[in-house]
Amino acid sequence: MSDIVEELDALRVTGLERIEAARDPEELEAVRVSLLGKKGSLITLLRSVGGLAPEERPAAGRTSNEVRQAIEAGLEARRKALESAELTQRLTAEAVDVTLPGRGRVPGHRHLISQIVDEIVDVFIGLGDQVAEGPEAELDYYNFTALNHPPDHPARSGQDTFYVEDLSGDVAVVAGESDVMLRTHTSPVQVRVMEAQEPPIYVLAPGRVYRRDVADPSHLPQFTQVEGLVVDRGITFGDLKGTLEHFCHVMFGADREVRLRPHFFPFTEPSAEVDVSCIICDGEGCRFCGGVGWLEILGCGMVDPNVFRLLGIDPEEYTGFAFGMGAERIAALKYGLSDIRLLLEGDMRFLRQF
Ligand code: DAH
Repeated sequence: MSDIVEELDALRVTGLERIEAARDPEELEAVRVSLLGKKGSLITLLRSVGGLAPEERPAAGRTSNEVRQAIEAGLEARRKALESAELTQRLTAEAVDVTLPGRGRVPGHRHLISQIVDEIVDVFIGLGDQVAEGPEAELDYYNFTALNHPPDHPARSGQDTFYVEDLSGDVAVVAGESDVMLRTHTSPVQVRVMEAQEPPIYVLAPGRVYRRDVADPSHLPQFTQVEGLVVDRGITFGDLKGTLEHFCHVMFGADREVRLRPHFFPFTEPSAEVDVSCIICDGEGCRFCGGVGWLEILGCGMVDPNVFRLLGIDPEEYTGFAFGMGAERIAALKYGLSDIRLLLEGDMRFLRQF
């Protein structure tokens, strides 16, 4: 056998090996060009056929055709193999398991505290009230003095009140050294409204309030109150009672019992606390109501004539009532929550229920 035939056979073997080794269509194309291209190995070998003896040429020509065919077949087979491997890989990568459960999106909604405030506001807007607001960093005058708190009232102590350095409201200082505090209730809005407008006054003032309490199941250092104030000619305690009974029935259900208990607030006289019959036991007595059958929901009273006089409203001409309630507490009582801290923890499993 001539050298050329041996070389052609060798080219077939190495060529087919290189074809098998190609890992993707680009590599395969490069192999093809280097074997069969115009400057490829096969052409280069065949150029030397011209220099062969005439009797050697037929065998060399036949072999070179066989080698070309073998290489072309090898290329084609490898191309198909690579394509189907690529397809399989893509299919695996893009596979969608249609049997997996879907991933739903949970639409957001208003926080329970905001919902409750809205509900309370709605009831009183329905009775003709307007909504008023006041600052959260408040002056001692509005938070205490004008509300008939004597100078030594315990609520004024730094134990109960966050005092701040100035009206921007961000630096706590020693109690008693500042006239500015984070309001401890929404009642100062009463004073601001009476200062700004003449009776008749029918307002509702929702807002955040702050107290130096450690958070526990029924206390938060920051919570939400809704304040109500009515000042007009001929307003009686009966109006107060009727208004709050109406509110309790809308909020807690028409079958709730409502009672007023005498109490004391510096800025109302007489003052009362309002209870509704326990939503859990209906008044029988249970753990939720501490066995008493009643739940306290707000403080209220007839505006103290001292408050009127200070603000230039004639207590002989006008009377009025006021009330204040905690929205978190109302939420807890309405939904039987045993711990109001849940409202602020941001646990979606809890909040989504409302
Ligand atoms: N401000 C009182 C508090 O935070 C609640 C309150 C009681 C408000 C009687 C009133 C009221 O308007 O008349 O405890």
